[in-house]
Amino acid sequence: MADIIISFKNLNVVFPYKGKDIKAVENTSLNIYRGEVFGIVGTSGAGKSTLLRTINLLQRPTQGEVFVNGENISGLKGNALRKLRTGIGMIFQQFSLINTKTVYDNVAFAMEAVGKSKMEIQQRVPEVLELVGLSDRAKSYPAKLSGGEKQRVGIARALANNPYILLCDEPTSALDLENTNAILKLLKEINENLGITIVIISHEMDVIKKICNRVAVMSGGKIIETNEVFNVFTAPQEPFTQSLVNHTLNFELPERIRQNTDLKLLKIVYSGEKAEEAVISDTIKNLEVEINILHGKIEYITNKPFGVLIVQITGNPEKVKEAQNYLTTRVYKVEEL
Ligand SMILES: Nc1ncnc2c1ncn2[C@@H]1O[C@H](COP(=O)(O)OP(=O)(O)OP(=O)(O)O)[C@@H](O)[C@H]1O
Ligand SMILES: [Mg+2]
Repeated sequence: MADIIISFKNLNVVFPYKGKDIKAVENTSLNIYRGEVFGIVGTSGAGKSTLLRTINLLQRPTQGEVFVNGENISGLKGNALRKLRTGIGMIFQQFSLINTKTVYDNVAFAMEAVGKSKMEIQQRVPEVLELVGLSDRAKSYPAKLSGGEKQRVGIARALANNPYILLCDEPTSALDLENTNAILKLLKEINENLGITIVIISHEMDVIKKICNRVAVMSGGKIIETNEVFNVFTAPQEPFTQSLVNHTLNFELPERIRQNTDLKLLKIVYSGEKAEEAVISDTIKNLEVEINILHGKIEYITNKPFGVLIVQITGNPEKVKEAQNYLTTRVYKVEEL
């Protein structure tokens, strides 16, 4: 059985606001396994940050419990709380660096804060700066760095005290695509090489798709769906999840195809290891229809292919119907357009 590192049990976080109660997190139970990259996705105000912040008690639960390494942390105070936080690094959308300190001192500060010795700091800071690829920027101030570099400092700071969990609250939302990809790659390497469990929040399925093993979909303070990322993309259960993944997988048909309304068009969605070419050629051979591939797109989600083909199918109407049924048995989904 997989080893649970973080567990929420009937967790509620309520904020009193103007005489009313805002239920930021409602009756949430969830297990996160040691060594995984776990995603939490949802729209603004869903409660993602609030949920994440209960893991290191930046946010205290109103009701229910949070377990880290099997220990109920909900009531921790003083030294026990400091010890918990030393084992949990965190990075933020806006990096949260100290602008008056150099890169080196930003990282050193996190170690001073938990009472590490000068010697430990002098040894560790260059190590983590090297790890994030910033050895040559140790003396720079944050204002002189690009967004991607600032987040690398954030990551170095979060790793300075050798945490076993890394919490990431929208770590790439302030970055362009190139820097987003580079930071996600770095986080994945940290997960794989150092064995650090990562919990990452995003409002974009694209980010989740690139780095996570499993994902929880949050809406209105509740987790409405939890699954392997591949399953969430190929078979989303909830309408809200469907709308999130559609953004990534639906593509506009080219103008020339859309304008020709006489064509019998099928959208074929296939997943996993099935080779789509074999399916198409088998259909053509067995059912004596013609199939032209007009448009196609393949996504790789956790290294497994997930593809969409738009095909035109022609031939004897009976055979066309049969071919469509046959296709349906061989691929994930067939839709008439
Ligand atoms: N300290 C607070 N006091 C009062 N209400 C709060 C507080 N923090 C969060 N909330 C409210 O709780 C709800 C959830 O907020 P939260 O920040 O967890 O959402 P989120 O999913 O992280 O959103 P975003 O994508 O915008 O960061 C929102 O309605 C928010 O306004
Ligand atoms: Mg948030």
